[in-house]
Formats: sequence, structure tokens, C-alpha cells
Amino acid sequence: MNRKTFLLSTVSASAFVLLRGYAQTQPNPKPSNSSKMLIVYFSHSGNTRVIAEQIKATTGADICEIQTVTPYPSDYQTVVKQARKEIDAKYKPELKTKIENIGSYDVIFVGSPNWWATIAPPIATFLSSYDLSGKTVVPFITHEGSRMGRSVSDIKELAAKSTILNGLPVRGGSVKSAQNDVSAWLRQIGLVKQ
Ligand SMILES: Cc1cc2nc3c(=O)[nH]c(=O)nc-3n(C[C@H](O)[C@H](O)[C@H](O)COP(=O)(O)O)c2cc1C
Repeated sequence: MNRKTFLLSTVSASAFVLLRGYAQTQPNPKPSNSSKMLIVYFSHSGNTRVIAEQIKATTGADICEIQTVTPYPSDYQTVVKQARKEIDAKYKPELKTKIENIGSYDVIFVGSPNWWATIAPPIATFLSSYDLSGKTVVPFITHEGSRMGRSVSDIKELAAKSTILNGLPVRGGSVKSAQNDVSAWLRQIGLVKQ
């Protein structure tokens, strides 16, 4: 190797080491939607689950279905009566589902069917059981006509120290064709890029 070649290879090797070091020490650029997101939902007959999966498909968020220790009856009239009593009594059913690492999430989507114009009691239990202060809570509700009802004000009461973003109501009968609405809503509230 002559002196010129040696000098050139030394310079390029040093540049490589310097650039590598630079790349390793620079923090990753943080796009506005790089928050860690979790979707928490309860679904009795499957509609809310469909929307939860659509949110997951668009955001890549982690997902967690809330289940109760004692499952709700599948018979419609029976669950309607039971839900009425539970909501009137502000009853909070015990949850089978435990979320270990909720502290690591910045944004929590909270999904529920509209039951008697509000969130289903398992979601009330969830909101009361975890410290969501400082987090962003994003409601989504499936319904058969009452849209969000008073869900948002009830969520605000139970997650008083969270920022609540505009929620999405979806009619139960339309959940399978709601992906475009879900994506548009996520763009509108700034959780996915335009
Ligand atoms: C106990 C109970 C109460 C309900 N109350 C309402 C209501 O007040 N307003 C409404 O629009 N839909 C009501 N519905 C309809 C559900 O909100 C709707 O079917 C929803 O999409 C079900 O979601 P899921 O399949 O995830 O359980 C009620 C359903 C049940 C089972």
C-alpha cells in the first residue's frame, strides 16, 4: 500500500467509525404519533371487538379484551335487566383480566357497548382500578341508536386526571363496514398521520 492509498483508507475508516458513533448516540426521531398505545375494550356480543380490531389494524396498538370473573348471561333480555340493575347501583364487577404494564402506555383507547346510555360496568371497573392520570384516553362506543349517550361524561368522571379525546360512536349493525370511518377519526384526532 503506498502512502496515498494508506491515508485515504485511514480517512474513510475514521469517517466510518465517526458516523457509526454518531448514529448510535443520536436519539431516534420521534414522530407525533409515536406514543405507546393500548386498546382496552369490553364486548358482550362482538360489535365493539370488531372496532377494537380495526383500531389495532390502523395504529398497530396493543390490544386487551376485558373479561369479568363472572361472565354476563348471553340471553339478551336477561343481560338487559342485569345491566340496568348494575348501572343503577354503580356496581363494578370484578375483572378476570389484569393489565400489568399499563404505566408504560401514553394513549389508552377505551371501548364499550352503550349499555343504558353509558359504558358497560366492566369498563367502569377498569377505569376505577388503574391510575390513568396524565394519559390520553380515547373512547369508542358501539350502540343501536343512542350513540355515546352519557358515556363521555361518565368516563371523564372516572378518569378525571386524563385528557379525553373526541370519541367515536359506531352503530352496532355497521361495524363491519366502519374501517374507513375509524381511519378518518384516527387521522382527525391526530393519532395517525394524514
Ligand atoms: C344491556 C344492554 C343495554 C343496551 N342499551 C343500549 C342503549 O341504551 N342505547 C343503544 O343505542 N344501544 C343499547 N344497546 C345495544 C348495544 O349498545 C349494541 O348492540 C352494541 O353494539 C353491542 O356491543 P357488543 O356487541 O360489543 O356487546 C344495549 C345492549 C345491551 C345488551
